[in-house]
Amino acid sequence: ATDLKSLLAEKIQEQQVYVKSFREQYGSKVIGEITVDQVYGGMRGIRGLVTETSYLHPEDGIKFRDFTIPQIKKLLPKSPGGNEPLPEGLFWLLLTGEVPSAEEVRSVSKMWAEKAEIPPHVVTMLNNFPAHLHPMSQFTAAIMACNTESKFAKAYADGVSKNMYWEYTFDDVMNLIAKLPPIAATIYKNLYRNGSPISAVDLEKDWSSNFTSMLGYDNPDFTELMRLYISIHSDHEGGNVSAHTVHLVASALSDPYISFAAGINGLAGPLHGLGSQEVLEWLTELHNDLSSDATEAQLKDFVWQTLKSGQVVPGFGHDVLRRTDPRYTALREFALKHLPDDPMFNLANNLYRIVPQSILALGKIKNPWPTVDGLSGVLLRYYGMKEIHYYTVLIGVSRALGTMASLVWDRALGLPIERPKSMTTDGLMKLVGAV
Ligand code: MLT
Repeated sequence: ATDLKSLLAEKIQEQQVYVKSFREQYGSKVIGEITVDQVYGGMRGIRGLVTETSYLHPEDGIKFRDFTIPQIKKLLPKSPGGNEPLPEGLFWLLLTGEVPSAEEVRSVSKMWAEKAEIPPHVVTMLNNFPAHLHPMSQFTAAIMACNTESKFAKAYADGVSKNMYWEYTFDDVMNLIAKLPPIAATIYKNLYRNGSPISAVDLEKDWSSNFTSMLGYDNPDFTELMRLYISIHSDHEGGNVSAHTVHLVASALSDPYISFAAGINGLAGPLHGLGSQEVLEWLTELHNDLSSDATEAQLKDFVWQTLKSGQVVPGFGHDVLRRTDPRYTALREFALKHLPDDPMFNLANNLYRIVPQSILALGKIKNPWPTVDGLSGVLLRYYGMKEIHYYTVLIGVSRALGTMASLVWDRALGLPIERPKSMTTDGLMKLVGAV
């Protein structure tokens, strides 16, 4: 088995040379034009970031390094007797570009289990939060407070050389990821289980299995769902709000803890990660109004009412994707296998046939297809996790894998502070000759 950090050191050396020679030859090549609408329009479609860990293809969906979701499901190591990829393996892949062996994955599980303990001041802080503080706010606050542990911040203050930055960043990243399940589980237990303590970490178990035990769940199928859920939510190239925020904040050489917390605050927005809670709210309303054996005509009518009142149908439509999100497909396959008769799943499945046509009929929207949020809550609810305000925390735990792997690469490639140019409307008008 290979040691992750040594393998990474090799990969970094290779990539540094590769990028350097590419930039020497093609550094001044023009790769695009920018319209005024793009400047006002959330920079949609502007190629302005380098992210090595994953790429979002509009038709094929996310590729983790070179691999699609069906490929990672097939190739990455599973737990003994399990069918779903272990997120530790996905992290290895995102970081190094290589598919790890089962033994290599076990070494990551062990490392994360060993580093799982949360600093006492963070436990005290979490235990003192009021019950009406949203779980996402508790989550980011706890992550930030863990920066007492930052090796990067200390090394920087000690004046360590720039080419060593990635090593301290890597150490912080491993420590941070290890602590996310106990932080997230403490929040869950405090809010929804009367503050009962989380179970102790088991050094022999994988990361997701420890996580579900800490949350107080013992159904092995729920742990399998968590492995899949965490794997598929881990990364969505670099331009989404959470990944971009982590990159931006870290570009100021902020340490990994505070950079990640910044990104997670973006994930807490309803147009980003909070979407998964909104879908279940909408589905529950639909279910209460119509019951699960609603006819196709009744469903169509409900969807029309939603659309006509100017609301969006939550869980459908993505800014970049132009087909059904393969993350949705992966969850649908899981549901067809494990909960084919669940009324909420059947409802979501029927909507999958109806909603896209209704949205297309409006003629305004390019992508009416379902996103991962369209199903994730349905599955969590089936296994007894009905606390919808908590759902985004699970995405947050998962998003650490991609954003933190990317951050190690930002440091390895010496990417500078991000500082795009902004314009005033008058300035833009002058630029295009409008005045
Ligand atoms: C994500 O997973 O980050 C979302 O699908 C949003 C995005 O890609 O912009």
